[in-house]
Amino acid sequence: MNDQTDPLPLAGRRALVTGASSGIGRATARALAGAGASVHLVARREERLAELAEELGGDATFTAADVRDAGGVSTLFEGQAFDLVVANAGLSRGVAPLHEGDSDDWAEMIDTNVKGVLHTVRAALPALRAAGQGDLVLLGSVAGRQVYPGGNVYNASKHAVRAIYEALRLDEFGSGIRFTTVDPGLVETEFSLVRLGDQNAADSVYEGMTPLTPEDVADAIRYAVTRPPHVNIGEIVLWPTEQASTRDVHRSGH
Ligand SMILES: NC(=O)c1ccc[n+]([C@@H]2O[C@H](COP(=O)([O-])OP(=O)(O)OC[C@H]3O[C@@H](n4cnc5c(N)ncnc54)[C@H](OP(=O)(O)O)[C@@H]3O)[C@@H](O)[C@H]2O)c1
Repeated sequence: MNDQTDPLPLAGRRALVTGASSGIGRATARALAGAGASVHLVARREERLAELAEELGGDATFTAADVRDAGGVSTLFEGQAFDLVVANAGLSRGVAPLHEGDSDDWAEMIDTNVKGVLHTVRAALPALRAAGQGDLVLLGSVAGRQVYPGGNVYNASKHAVRAIYEALRLDEFGSGIRFTTVDPGLVETEFSLVRLGDQNAADSVYEGMTPLTPEDVADAIRYAVTRPPHVNIGEIVLWPTEQASTRDVHRSGH
């Protein structure tokens, strides 16, 4: 009988986190490093990565890279054996209905949220397969489970992340690798500023309600990757208590 319930320690593990310059990725890098993992930080804003690496100290390292660039992402993994990879980099642009949509915005969301995740996954798999263990965590969203007005292409990109997660479970079945999709509702980060391009508009997304913090999401990721080896936390959906669906937010004002 398997009575193994002890958490899997993070000390000695080698993690890579994309989108580590802000929000959920930055909080996840802090959580993993704080629990003993050595962390490699990836995003485009190099100065921010340098600051975070200095804050984390120890053996934290970083590379400025764009996940839309397949070759650049492959290079990150050359000669490295990451056993914990968090494909978190992602963004949304705009809330226009489809008939008013901007095809450059569509391309940026699809190239980052879908192809960027694919580039990261493909580059991460050889070392994970060779080790016969490890964790690959994808940042999905409740937007990958429910659509909402103006969400269209962002919704499509996050539904694709969910499909990629499900495909990985089947394609890599028997490999020993654990796959997790983490799907949060509203989290207060730079996400809404990037999406709406205006700080007042971004603040109004969270007005009168208590959103999740990036640390809440990082805590869920840390939980998933520290379960005993025979346990795979597959899907984590985190809602703010004041959010019932992608369209229902209770603005209590507290
Ligand atoms: N905030 C929410 O309510 C929410 C809810 C559900 C899911 N999510 C998902 O959570 C993930 C993280 O978002 P967040 O809320 O933490 O937003 P954020 O604060 O804006 O952080 C996004 C991160 O992604 C990086 N990034 C964006 N495009 C990139 C690219 N082409 N190459 C490399 N890095 C790139 C950004 O870094 P650089 O700009 O420096 O490259 C940044 O570090 C995303 O996948 C998002 O879709 C967010």
